[in-house]
Amino acid sequence: MHIAVIGGTGRIGSQVVDILTSRGHRAVPHALSTGLDLLSGRGVTEGLRGADVVVNVTSSPTFDDRAAAFFRTTMDNLLRTAVAEDVGHAVLLSIVGVDRVPELAYYRAKTMQEDILKSAPVPYSIVRSTQFFEFIDTVLSWTSDERTVRLPATPIQPIAAADVARAVADVSVGEPLRGTRDVAGPEVFTLDELGRIVLAAHHDTRTVVTDASAGMFAAVPGDALIPRPGAVIAPTHFRDWSARVPVR
Ligand SMILES: NC(=O)c1ccc[n+]([C@@H]2O[C@H](COP(=O)([O-])OP(=O)(O)OC[C@H]3O[C@@H](n4cnc5c(N)ncnc54)[C@H](OP(=O)(O)O)[C@@H]3O)[C@@H](O)[C@H]2O)c1
Repeated sequence: MHIAVIGGTGRIGSQVVDILTSRGHRAVPHALSTGLDLLSGRGVTEGLRGADVVVNVTSSPTFDDRAAAFFRTTMDNLLRTAVAEDVGHAVLLSIVGVDRVPELAYYRAKTMQEDILKSAPVPYSIVRSTQFFEFIDTVLSWTSDERTVRLPATPIQPIAAADVARAVADVSVGEPLRGTRDVAGPEVFTLDELGRIVLAAHHDTRTVVTDASAGMFAAVPGDALIPRPGAVIAPTHFRDWSARVPVR
């Protein structure tokens, strides 16, 4: 199959391309750095020409209110071209529980992105993932100072990016789901607990302070980010993954 992977140079997209290529498919990475701009529309027609499937694993440059305009315009450009070029399947990567956290601008924008896809005439699949292991350092950096890291006790069920990429690759070569598949890691942590595990693994002597108002994930109500029954549970455990990552 010919699969156009938009965002194909990113954390997930580059691995999706590698997995599909290793399975004998023609997976072509597209991104700003390859000359395709989904926001302006530059290169999109050429990128989708002849593709059986388009995978959208782009990310907005900001998490704030500007994310909505990014996802609206990029989805409109993607879907208009997918229809014109007769692409038979559009796959989108989203976030488990995204519609349960309307307080967050980025999550509202991702929910809108899903809704645009669902209402388009192109057969679609949505893969919703939990938070990537590789994203946790970024989350910690938002509320860190020299001595402490402040984190809420928000429950999350994080997943290795490699497992997400495998799930996206599997879906992209299957029949369109015309629905959503949730994927998650095998364990639930609270974010403050996970912060302590990460700092210990990095031999970082700072203290994690549990703070219900700290950072973006403070806005998450209850277990909104935990998948409901029926999710695909990925094999990689956080501690095994963490042991393989070089100490900072
Ligand atoms: N972080 C998490 O824990 C998490 C959890 C669930 C779902 N997700 C979702 O996963 C998706 C992918 O995340 P990621 O971490 O793999 O992202 P990433 O590493 O930041 O990669 C983003 C990709 O999008 C491309 N891109 C950005 N703007 C573009 C534009 N205007 N036109 C074309 N390509 C553009 C980038 O191209 P260049 O490299 O050329 O700039 C890059 O290939 C996001 O939609 C995110 O919402 C994330």
